[in-house]
Amino acid sequence: MALQEKQEIAAEAAAATNGSQGYVRLAPVFPRRLRDHWLEGHAAEVAELALDLGRALGLSSPALLELELAARLHDVGKRAMPESILSKPGPLSEVEWSVMRRHPEWGSGMLADVPGLEDVADAVHAHHERWDGSGYPLGIEGEHIPLASRIVAVCGAFSAMTTDRPYRSARSAVDALCELQRGAGSQFDPAIVGAFIASAESAAA
Ligand SMILES: [Fe+2]
Repeated sequence: MALQEKQEIAAEAAAATNGSQGYVRLAPVFPRRLRDHWLEGHAAEVAELALDLGRALGLSSPALLELELAARLHDVGKRAMPESILSKPGPLSEVEWSVMRRHPEWGSGMLADVPGLEDVADAVHAHHERWDGSGYPLGIEGEHIPLASRIVAVCGAFSAMTTDRPYRSARSAVDALCELQRGAGSQFDPAIVGAFIASAESAAA
């Protein structure tokens, strides 16, 4: 992404948030370039799941605000990617994957200069890290990964698995929960997966 474009996004975000902590209520006036992403279905669903989970985990109000923003904006860096990769119906080539894997860094870069969003930028940067350290782009592991990133990783995976994609049908919620369980301790924070499953079970009871 060009430096000028990043600066424009940061300026729009700063203007919309006005440096305040009340930015979640500013969704309708959120930066023009980020608004479509903010309102996009996957991001909204991940935010809803993440907030439910955050409340179940007893997070404070400021932590919930940060979590909601991280969830809504976790993939915002994809907006800097070529449409040919984003909308490709089949598997990505190795080169295309190398571009795709840069979206956490690009998203974080869009947010890092916005007053009050530094922690959100860090969480966006780390949303593809894995509990065992084999994720990207930083390769950090365990509790070195921001809590909001670990929550977004679980909720994002569940949302993605239970949604139809051009190249595959949606999986059932039970299937998706089993897949999360399989990834607990390797891809995902096991405590977060446990809380997510417990929360899903109590909602279904
Ligand atoms: Fe992502």
